[in-house]
Amino acid sequence: MEQVTHKVSQMAEHLIGSEIIKLGGEIRDRILKGEQIYNFTIGDFDPNYFPIPEALTAYIIDAYRKNLTNYPVANGAPELRQAIVDLLMQKQGIQYHADEVLVAGGARPIIYAIYQALVDPQDKVLFPVPSWNNNHYTHLSHAQQVFVETTPEQQFMPTAEQLEPYIQEVSLLALCSPLNPTGTMFTQEQLLGICDLVLKENQRRPKDQKPLYVLYDQIYSMLTYGQSHVDPVALRPEMKPYTIYVDGISKSLAATGVRVGWGFGPAHIIDKMKSILGHVGAWAPRPEQIAAGKYLADVNRLDAFLSHIKAALQQRLQAFYEGIQYLKSQGFAVEAIPPAAAIYLTVQFDLKGYTSASGNTLQNTSDISAYLLSEAKVALVPFRAFGASDDSTWFRLSVGTTSMDDVKASLNAIESALKGLKKP
Ligand SMILES: Cc1ncc(COP(=O)(O)O)c(C=O)c1O
Repeated sequence: MEQVTHKVSQMAEHLIGSEIIKLGGEIRDRILKGEQIYNFTIGDFDPNYFPIPEALTAYIIDAYRKNLTNYPVANGAPELRQAIVDLLMQKQGIQYHADEVLVAGGARPIIYAIYQALVDPQDKVLFPVPSWNNNHYTHLSHAQQVFVETTPEQQFMPTAEQLEPYIQEVSLLALCSPLNPTGTMFTQEQLLGICDLVLKENQRRPKDQKPLYVLYDQIYSMLTYGQSHVDPVALRPEMKPYTIYVDGISKSLAATGVRVGWGFGPAHIIDKMKSILGHVGAWAPRPEQIAAGKYLADVNRLDAFLSHIKAALQQRLQAFYEGIQYLKSQGFAVEAIPPAAAIYLTVQFDLKGYTSASGNTLQNTSDISAYLLSEAKVALVPFRAFGASDDSTWFRLSVGTTSMDDVKASLNAIESALKGLKKP
């Protein structure tokens, strides 16, 4: 029978799925078919190397055994929201009330709800690129994206000077630190400059107009390797009415499949977000919420887990960083940015114009990705997938699914592949 495909909404018609998930899926399919690939594409953890804390597993099972399986409270289990506000005070020195916190099924629904609560159709949303998925959330809100491209010299973090030309025309500024895809983070000075820009703009804006809001995604804030995490409200308390934070356990507890995230900010906005997510039904499962609340209530135990996971992640990131620096010292056209946080290393393969043994000249980023995949069996995500320009030769290398043995073996494979190229 002939398939008839009737029209769908304009939004759905023009929605593109996550490029990163698509790429990760393609690589996974090839691995399933038997190919040996070092897959550094996904921002996830292999539970064989990075299991969630044992106590969290035990609390989750316990909650199911106790039949705590009915609907969760709409804004989240009270014990979890209380644990979150206690943690915020201890870790960041910022004071929130449990009513200013909303729990959801991971950080994604929180980001979606922030956009839906604050951004009107045709509004402009400002964000730096490379960044993670803001283009898609802007599209879901029928809004327009305005982006500024950051550079390696600034560790790919935006500056106030870059954002300033657009600040009067936008409703939302979406920031993330530590940043996916780069593993870099704001310095205090950089973020202060941006906060002051936002505060100045909100003083200028007529009071009957929507203020400029800041979405601050700090989901990697507990995975830092020396540099301190900074956030708008801790630096400038006057930012509180304008800032909505995104956070969760997906990364810090290696719990991407447990699906517990949260947001916090002004109560009236959190309340709107609660209604939006209530209609979607995007709550975290109640047993997981209760378990996460119990787990996070013990900060010493949390810190012990964090030092263990951070040591393992940093070991991998550092080994890759040093491996790339070694290759650079051997004259290869590669570079890496020192890893500051998260599970990502920013690496450059500046190989445009190089020719392979089979006589093919690498013309663009896709050719470079394809060459690394075919000759080194290494899969990376180009920054283009995070909104950077097409000719960017920078890539995200994610270490959450890799062993130390694979780090060494893949660096050797990269070296051999680079040796197989002829300079332009
Ligand atoms: C910056 C950032 N925010 C949010 C998320 C989504 O987190 P979750 O899996 O809890 O929805 C991710 C996941 O990759 C991320 O990198």
